[in-house]
Amino acid sequence: MSDAPTPIQPAARQAPFVAPGPCQRASIAPYCARVRAMVTEERFQHILRVAALAETIGIANGFSRGELRATSLAAVLHDVARDLDEAKLFALAPPQHAIESEHPLALHGRAGRAIAVAWGITDERVLDAIEHHVSGPRPGDRVAMAVYVADVTEPGRGVNLDLRELAMRDLPRAYKRALVSKVRYLQSHGKAVHPRTLKVHDEISSQST
Ligand SMILES: [Fe+2]
Ligand SMILES: [Fe+2]
Repeated sequence: MSDAPTPIQPAARQAPFVAPGPCQRASIAPYCARVRAMVTEERFQHILRVAALAETIGIANGFSRGELRATSLAAVLHDVARDLDEAKLFALAPPQHAIESEHPLALHGRAGRAIAVAWGITDERVLDAIEHHVSGPRPGDRVAMAVYVADVTEPGRGVNLDLRELAMRDLPRAYKRALVSKVRYLQSHGKAVHPRTLKVHDEISSQST
């Protein structure tokens, strides 16, 4: 008995812990399946990471159960329209600004909102978070800010670790920093900034946080 081989640990116990994410829950899983059918596998993996992180940010910032559910659902749906072609984007979300005509991808937030509405979602927190993850949520919209920050700091991007950590302690500050740095980056590279993003930027910059 003494020279019996050491039992091998099950692989699951040796793997690093990974949060299961909202797609493991029965109430969210059907939406995950519908989204998966509309995006590339690479995009879906990004969506899973954003959903797990947005939920983690929400918990760390004391979100209510309702806010957490809205955050999870919005994160799962945020890029549902991201891989649609231009014709479909234009049909779902007719351009309202020149920048949207010139850069149809800027429409994927509003197109995603239209898809969510067609799927029966009525929670404005969810719909706003989907729409505004591209151009920037209203300051103070906690659900949308969590999705926005999770989108730009999810681990697969390999950048913005400092912002991800800040979001766990102070979501509004992390959101402000993310939006301001985005605008600075675009302006310093001579790229157009969406009018809504500029409006939110000016509003957020005038605040003391
Ligand atoms: Fe997106
Ligand atoms: Fe995304």
